[in-house]
Amino acid sequence: MAIVRVVGVVGAGQMGAGIAQLAAAAQMAVVMADSDGAALTRGLQSISSSLARFVKKGVISEDEANATLARVSTTTSLADMSSADVVIEAVSERENVKKGIFSELDRLLKPSAILASNTSSISITRLAASTQRPQQVIGMHFMNPPPLMKLVEIVRGLATADEVFEQTKELAERFGKTVVSSRDFPGFVVNRILMPMINEAFYALLEGVSSAEEIDTAMKLGTNQPMGPLALADFIGLDTCLSIMGVLHAGLGDAKYRPCPLLAQYVDAGWLGRKSGRGVYHYL
Ligand code: CAA
Repeated sequence: MAIVRVVGVVGAGQMGAGIAQLAAAAQMAVVMADSDGAALTRGLQSISSSLARFVKKGVISEDEANATLARVSTTTSLADMSSADVVIEAVSERENVKKGIFSELDRLLKPSAILASNTSSISITRLAASTQRPQQVIGMHFMNPPPLMKLVEIVRGLATADEVFEQTKELAERFGKTVVSSRDFPGFVVNRILMPMINEAFYALLEGVSSAEEIDTAMKLGTNQPMGPLALADFIGLDTCLSIMGVLHAGLGDAKYRPCPLLAQYVDAGWLGRKSGRGVYHYL
């Protein structure tokens, strides 16, 4: 099995930058691409501040942090990824944008390269169908924040080859992650279970069962979660939560996945969570 030396990451947002950091920390050369140059600058800053936290805690030395950052190069052109053994796409959850990137990468990359997507909700089988190498397309779903969260869900599309699954699993393990495998069903494993819990927290809030703070305290202290479901929704982004509930509802067809109207209303108001300064809670 070919060893992965060069990793491409498409998208320099929170997830893309975190994934680039993991690959660089695992001694791989990383090419991080984004069509927006300013996003690349922000992505590098976020890697640098995350590494600084690890230095402060004594997890890595300052030299290791500098060497990790130096292994990340940036570009606005996907053509600069032609030497990549694996490319992990982590752009926003718009299927047509992802398909466009996949078919362009398919033309640019060497035949052996693996195309992975960090999608949390789009079908890997459909993304794979936009390429001429569906057997080498796979889902590699990281959790936010990628440098800290220990899990990667690996999602096999209908055509994904066994060898590609093994190679992707090995890569995630080199990143220091534990892997679970999922079939290509709406929400995979984590969001299939997490999002209905978050959605139910919004229903409990809507119905006045408890206040937001009490709902979160109940779940934090009652079930040992690091954040309550409403705080976690703000952290993930309420628009993302709503969109994933929509995928579960449409894809699984059961009324139990109906997005909570209060969640939809917050999104309509532009209350998207931490990133917009207000969600269930205020952040400014
Ligand atoms: N890089 C390095 N270190 C980081 C970091 C980063 N990006 N973010 C936080 N840290 C460190 C902090 O420096 C801090 O270190 P110390 O304890 O040594 O001071 C520690 O992590 C805790 O951070 P904070 O004090 O800022 O805040 P916190 O205690 O609330 O922890 C958290 C933050 C790690 C995010 C924690 O709240 C948590 O685990 N929350 C749940 C996150 C979760 O469930 N994520 C998955 C969401 S689902 C998903 O991602 C899938 C999807 O498709 C939607």
